[in-house]
Amino acid sequence: MALSGARFRTLSWAAQFLAYKRPSWKCTSCKTLRPTSITLPRRFATAAPTKKPYYVTTPIFYVNAAPHVGHLYTMIIADILKRWRTLCGDTDAQLLTGTDEHGMKIQQAALAAGMDTQAFCDMNCKTFEALAKVANLDHNYFIRTTEPAHRESVQYFWEMLSHRGYIYTDKHEGWYSVSDETFYPQSQVHNSLDPTTGRKRMVSAETGKEVEWSSETNYHFRLSAFQDRLLELYKTGFITPSNYATDVVKSVASGLQDLSISRPAERLSWGIPVPGDETQTIYVWLDALVNYLTKAGYPFPPGQEGNLGWPADVHVVGKDIVRFHCVYWPAFLMALDLPVPRNVLVHGHWTINHEKMSKSTGNVVNPFFSLDRFGVDTMRFFLAYQGGLAGDADYDNAYIIRDYKKLLQSGIGNLVLRAIGSSKGKLPSYIASGHSGELPAANEHDSQFEQLLKETPVKVAERMDSLNSRAALQDIMALVEQGNKYIHVSEPWKNADKAPRILYNVAESLRIAGILLQPFMPTKSKELLDVLRVDNSRRTFSAAALGSDAEYGEGMKKTVLFPPLIVEQ
Ligand code: MSP
Repeated sequence: MALSGARFRTLSWAAQFLAYKRPSWKCTSCKTLRPTSITLPRRFATAAPTKKPYYVTTPIFYVNAAPHVGHLYTMIIADILKRWRTLCGDTDAQLLTGTDEHGMKIQQAALAAGMDTQAFCDMNCKTFEALAKVANLDHNYFIRTTEPAHRESVQYFWEMLSHRGYIYTDKHEGWYSVSDETFYPQSQVHNSLDPTTGRKRMVSAETGKEVEWSSETNYHFRLSAFQDRLLELYKTGFITPSNYATDVVKSVASGLQDLSISRPAERLSWGIPVPGDETQTIYVWLDALVNYLTKAGYPFPPGQEGNLGWPADVHVVGKDIVRFHCVYWPAFLMALDLPVPRNVLVHGHWTINHEKMSKSTGNVVNPFFSLDRFGVDTMRFFLAYQGGLAGDADYDNAYIIRDYKKLLQSGIGNLVLRAIGSSKGKLPSYIASGHSGELPAANEHDSQFEQLLKETPVKVAERMDSLNSRAALQDIMALVEQGNKYIHVSEPWKNADKAPRILYNVAESLRIAGILLQPFMPTKSKELLDVLRVDNSRRTFSAAALGSDAEYGEGMKKTVLFPPLIVEQ
């Protein structure tokens, strides 16, 4: 017999799993009953409980259109977080990215392209996979929501919600936006004239996207039951940066309506059918959000929920999809007593001339072109350095060229050339003296710069812990900037006695910056550390401290790390 709700919730998750009277639906791909149908991944077999792997995700991308620079940005932010954790010693940190392939939007786009829908998804999914590769994403998984494993995971998730009484059928009336894949109430839509056709239409007040009236019977989720628990969750710093939390709290506190979570299959056939009711298709956002669980091994074998990373440490999302990740998603998880993600990191949008870069406006920048034109690491650097978290950021090729020249060429590149050039082959001996504490006495400039060398890695780690990769990168670049100022005022080329200390400190700034830059510019930072002859075993975060490496520098040669951009020649 199933346990009563209250009693059930007092059991541990593992006990719940065992005690649960599980619905006996057939697993479509293997045709056996769950739970015996679950084939345990190999790492489950020897389940000695260990620390949960760090787990970060990107949103999964709609395959109705080609990727643009906004998509690249969200990928890069997540990749930096993952690489940072790896740098800090979490060698099993996990990054998930992928494609969102169901829903009305995709169904209509495939129709418009005159293609079979699956073939259309297969084709467009490849472009996102290619982007992840070209942008040097260190992802562990690329999920597609059309995968059989995901379908099973979503259907199982649905069954659990249903079994716990959180799903009911009702008539639903409202305005549906295909572009946003969401319903809006009457209060959130208004009349508008389409500027290109002069046609009158209804649009969402929030996104400006066209909506159509829909009246249908479908399944609903009892979202309204979660208002208090959601408001409690927001007090824990669930949403970063906090400006987005303010809006979410305001909206949830003003009341939550239950959520329509299916569409009649006659309208939407391209999706996952509701288990036991083929006349209904699961709402694309419920389907999409579960991707984060699918790749974490859901449904979880008892006692092994965290083995593949759940709960996610960070979901990286753009500001337009906050409601789905910060309201619906935690509510769905709470309904099943599953742990909620630790953090949702929201970022602003890239704009062009202060208008959101988006396919519907037609002002998109093809990320493949910019990666090719400026170089992968230059683009990673630019997006991370200028990209908005709390706010938006404006995109312009001129800004990329400006930052390349000022921060990379004249910043890092110049400091490398000056350090190696001024030391005339003696840098390894200065480094050895620096390490053994045999340098000339420090003056005020030296002490100030040494203080910065000590503080920077600590500050950068704090910034990354609070998920502010932009501020972390700015701190690293401030160290480089100060390094250039320090060598300029200290003039080691005029002062042979003082040169060992000055050049040692400058070499340390480059070594420390090189280590810390690895998550941001994996290739360029490797080149920098190679030029400095830093051993591969001493490139982790723990080595990014003043005086922690005595053995680099031997055989360094002047190298141009950031040559003139081809676009300028
Ligand atoms: N499929 C949903 C996400 C489901 S996650 C369970 C989706 N896809 S999307 O392709 O439209 O957008 C993917 C991500 O790109 C979102 O985080 C979105 O905010 C981001 N961006 C889209 N345009 C953007 C900019 N102009 N600038 C920055 N990011 C932008 O939403």
